[in-house]
Amino acid sequence: MKERVYTLAQQELPRRWYNVLADLDRPLDPPLDPRSRKPMPPEALVALFPKACVEQEVATDRFIDIPEEVLEVYRLWRPTPLLRAANLERALGTPAHIYYKYEGVSPTGSHKTNTAVAQAYYNKLEGTKRLTTETGAGQWGSALAFACQAFGLGLTVFMVKISYHQKPYRKAMIELYGGEIVPSPSERTQAGRDVLAQNPDSPGSLGIAISEAIEEALSTGAKYSLGSVLNHVLLHQTVIGQEALAQMELAGEYPDAVVGCVGGGSNFGGLMLPFLYDAKGRGRAIEFIAAEPTACPTITQGEVRYDYGDTGEMTPLLKMHTLGHDFVPPPIHAGGLRYHGMAPIITRLVEEGIVRPVALDQVDVFRDAVLFARTEGIIPAPETAHAVHAALELAREAARSDRPRVILIGFSGHGHFDMSAYQAYLAGELVRTSPGN
Ligand SMILES: Cc1ncc(COP(=O)(O)O)c(C=O)c1O
Repeated sequence: MKERVYTLAQQELPRRWYNVLADLDRPLDPPLDPRSRKPMPPEALVALFPKACVEQEVATDRFIDIPEEVLEVYRLWRPTPLLRAANLERALGTPAHIYYKYEGVSPTGSHKTNTAVAQAYYNKLEGTKRLTTETGAGQWGSALAFACQAFGLGLTVFMVKISYHQKPYRKAMIELYGGEIVPSPSERTQAGRDVLAQNPDSPGSLGIAISEAIEEALSTGAKYSLGSVLNHVLLHQTVIGQEALAQMELAGEYPDAVVGCVGGGSNFGGLMLPFLYDAKGRGRAIEFIAAEPTACPTITQGEVRYDYGDTGEMTPLLKMHTLGHDFVPPPIHAGGLRYHGMAPIITRLVEEGIVRPVALDQVDVFRDAVLFARTEGIIPAPETAHAVHAALELAREAARSDRPRVILIGFSGHGHFDMSAYQAYLAGELVRTSPGN
């Protein structure tokens, strides 16, 4: 009998995060101060983030211990399972072996809890009382609300307005964990009022919501928390890849392709970075594929340059792929992929030819998400569905060329709160977003 699920025991939970900064050929370009545009000393970031996270932003140790208090919360759902998509393979008639690392088993349904718990813990340790943040799809907001509840912190979440209306149950979930939620752009901040003055019907964007969350933090003595992009966020997500390495070993296989979706790059980075390190050590080659929407083609169409992380120009400037910090993507259902920028770590790996980006149309993405749900039973989040579609294209190509492959998908979350998106797809109401379509 072929195994379907590869699980690790609780004591096999990784005790350290993997820090890729130790292994880059040259250091990342430093962040620039938003006003002077001069390199910014890391200490300047402590106005927004806890000291421990600021240190991790520039740490050069290859491994960083995970605090016991964080491990204790991780044990509620980690290690997460690795599954073999055997039904899907059969449906495709592909010789490829398809595996997926399932992060949807976390309390809030996605990988976002991995960094939320760490960030809430460090804030608690350093005396923070309340956090502010933004959320697109609501996955990050609910993950941070869960983590703040776990460590007794207050939380205000600015949720991108279009998602706020598309996903009312995410709002309920954030409130259930004790968080406050504000649709963005809002009248509550100057950044929000400025946007509304220009466009009262703005659907919002992550860039606008970040400005609002930062303004709120700086003006109320709270701290700010970001769910992607930054080095320390990718660091916290590396529990995913380390577990998956051990689980692929249990399966007796090694992936030749690792595929993930990219909004700001955290789940993809968390999965692929430990594999990059491991493959180098073994002298093996892996194709790393980053899947993004054609509606927000940050890597495939953006430029690599210094840019702000937010619309209101309050964040430090990062050297990254960007569509411009005032870019407002069309309101697609994969809200978590509607971000103009990219993690500088992922940008660097794209520049080095290690990561290959692909841009996908939401109609094709949902078609394969439905196929996945009908064969494997698990309903992918619309963001995750981008990784699924990119992987299935590889598996189809493997079928055409009769080439055996081992494909690993970063399955970042389930889509239980995304039924309106699936309803729209099934009713034929989703529009193509690719240029020329
Ligand atoms: C389920 C899911 N996957 C992926 C993403 C994209 O974020 P990142 O690229 O940081 O993993 C999000 C963001 O909200 C998400 O909710």
